[in-house]
Amino acid sequence: MLVLGIESSCDEAGAALVRDGRYILSNVVASQIAIHNRYGGVVPEVASRQQLSTLLPVIETALAEANCSLADIDAVAATYGPGLAGSLLVGLTVGKTLALACDLPFLGVNHLEAHVYANWLRKDEVAPTEAADWNYQPGDPQFPLLCLVVSGAHSELVLVRDHGHYELLGRTRDDAAGEAFDKVARILGLDYPGGPSIQHAAEQAEQALLQQHKPVSSARSAYRLPRAWLRGTYDFSFSGLKTAMLHLAEGASGERTSDAPHEGKQVSQYMRMGAQAAAHGVPDVSLLAASFQEAIVDVLAVKTRMAAQEYQVQQVILAGGVAANASLRARLEQELLPLHIRLSYPPVAFCTDNAAMIASGAFFHLSRGERHSLDLDVQPGLSLPFRT
Ligand code: KG4
Ligand code: ZN
Repeated sequence: MLVLGIESSCDEAGAALVRDGRYILSNVVASQIAIHNRYGGVVPEVASRQQLSTLLPVIETALAEANCSLADIDAVAATYGPGLAGSLLVGLTVGKTLALACDLPFLGVNHLEAHVYANWLRKDEVAPTEAADWNYQPGDPQFPLLCLVVSGAHSELVLVRDHGHYELLGRTRDDAAGEAFDKVARILGLDYPGGPSIQHAAEQAEQALLQQHKPVSSARSAYRLPRAWLRGTYDFSFSGLKTAMLHLAEGASGERTSDAPHEGKQVSQYMRMGAQAAAHGVPDVSLLAASFQEAIVDVLAVKTRMAAQEYQVQQVILAGGVAANASLRARLEQELLPLHIRLSYPPVAFCTDNAAMIASGAFFHLSRGERHSLDLDVQPGLSLPFRT
């Protein structure tokens, strides 16, 4: 089954042709990063206008790269949530219109579920000629598995028992991991999106230490930052860490030198830390980035390992933009390898928003005979369809 996937939930316009939910014929993404960078984050109105002008050429390019025409496609799939309403509306309308015009089945895709299914995509592999079992093919992730979903707006630990069977084990109580990366990058004066910028800055800190023959781990512990363990739960909280970073930066810049008693001891502690760093010269942004990244990775990795042990899964998969983070991948490998729990994650290009994952997620619904009618509307606040 050849599916045309369309992604437009935020600031990336994507189109892809994927066979049997796994084999990529083409995957085209038009990123708006350069446009939003100057604002330090995504401006929704600008994002939807850009989607309008880029999506059709992106679809044409995806068809051309796959050497396909609309006549070769078996179904059309587009994201219908979660995301920015205006951006979602563009892709969903284009998808439904194409399905109507070409008399093809249509499926609206949950963007978060699609991030999970990015783990089913294979690079540089061709579809087997024999029609195999759609449900499972060698090389697929194996159920039951644990999925850490970490994107710009979501941080969730999810037990996936089978296709479409999701149980929520924990979620963030405030900021998502990606949101924390983006906000802290802004505080540190680094580029949007924050994740890759912070990873890069942290790598620079480690590189500098290596050259001085010092252990790289000292970059990660240069600043002692708070971790919200929320013991007894698999929930996360990153807002305290973000606030600590803000006060550290304020203390360092001398913006707020006096203690702020109403904000408590913790606040003044990080301001003092920043002021001390400033007294020893300008605090090194790359060391701040490395310490911050370590604090996030620490909590994500330890909680994921504990959940994997409690629920006795054989495999952990990562999903969402933060899954691209090299430090998170390496640390999880370290946590899970001794327990003989397999860790897998999509290639970096399929961790961040793309349309191949939309076509993949759609395939598993379409194979069960599911379709959406053309009056499907966008759902900006959609979550994974959890069972209790
Ligand atoms: O999944 P995604 O592309 O979009 C959403 O659905 O939200 O995730 C975007 C998020 C951003 O917050 C971005 O900073 C983060 O993923 N991200 C990373 C990395 N690459 C992207 N975070 C940490 N390390 C990375 N290498
Ligand atoms: Zn996403």
